[in-house]
Amino acid sequence: MNRAAGQSEPVEPLREIAAKKGRIYGGAALQSVLSKDTEYARIFARQCGILVPEGELKWGSLRPSPTTYNFAPADWLLSYTKANRMLMRGHTLVWYQSLPKWFDGYVNQGNAKQMLQDHIATVVGHFSGNMHSWDVVNEILYPEDKIQGGWRNTPWLKLLGPGHIEMAFRLAAQADPHALLVWNENHIEDESYGHENKRRIWLMQLQALLAKKVPIGGIGIQSHLVGGQGQVGGPKFRQFLTDVSNLGLKILITELDVQDTGFVADPKQRDVQVADVYDRYLNAVLQNRSTIAVLTWGLSDQYSWLNTFVPRSDGLLARPLPFDASFQPTLAYYATRRAFQSANPI
Ligand code: XIL
Repeated sequence: MNRAAGQSEPVEPLREIAAKKGRIYGGAALQSVLSKDTEYARIFARQCGILVPEGELKWGSLRPSPTTYNFAPADWLLSYTKANRMLMRGHTLVWYQSLPKWFDGYVNQGNAKQMLQDHIATVVGHFSGNMHSWDVVNEILYPEDKIQGGWRNTPWLKLLGPGHIEMAFRLAAQADPHALLVWNENHIEDESYGHENKRRIWLMQLQALLAKKVPIGGIGIQSHLVGGQGQVGGPKFRQFLTDVSNLGLKILITELDVQDTGFVADPKQRDVQVADVYDRYLNAVLQNRSTIAVLTWGLSDQYSWLNTFVPRSDGLLARPLPFDASFQPTLAYYATRRAFQSANPI
């Protein structure tokens, strides 16, 4: 690996370029990675103004048993952010994935409400005053499940009905009145019927929650974009951003990366294709003055989840992020930089 160990990378930190426009740039990382790879930890802190723990705050990692919490890895990450003057965001309190093994056998209609209440009070309370924002709920819409309201048929929905969503936001606000409370979703970024339908339903549900004074402060758009599939940053998507911002909500791009499995093998050409997606997408989202933050799901290709979850069939490393596996800036870095530079200040 061709790493310029000990040298500061020549490229300007994205966190500073974003800050000039009143925005935040950052990324997701694992404690197990940052604590071992000191060179990566240095570059990550130089580039990122905000960190989101990639897994450490999910039930599956945080809850070894029904009565215990393992805060150690996330606490390590919090100290790291403080030492590097970075913000931290929490991900996530209510999600149908990454539930602990004991969940199904232990949580039932009799104790589900109490379990969720305790979890949110304890976890949000633990980090109270230290979190920029929380993904209170994650991926709770899935119209394909054909449930009234467009809800995903999750364990929490089965146990508690859609009321658990409102409950989760209210509990989080009680436990930390200062964190921005976010509803995070996927698959809403392109101009296809499926994405437009989900945006329509989301907007409707957001309006309904706000009408009930549920303390929701913003939406998180995951933005796991799939290269070569669908038109991103298009007019219907931009209209949705306008509609969301007219509701008074902030917009966060929470998990940006570009899956390159459909792109050519040659890294140089592939980078052009990936950067083109970054370019279109980020210019669209940063046009909107409610877009306060952009986070990529990782920073270096070396540690991207896509290499494990959606590997390329030719066995080559994916190139979804602003820095390559040698920690050199890719064209996606330059596209991100340009998008921030041409954004309106907020
Ligand atoms: C992924 C992580 O990157 C993996 O390391 C983990 O094992 C599984 O989850 N949408 C989300 C994230 O909201 O939490 C997911 O993160 C990626 C998709």
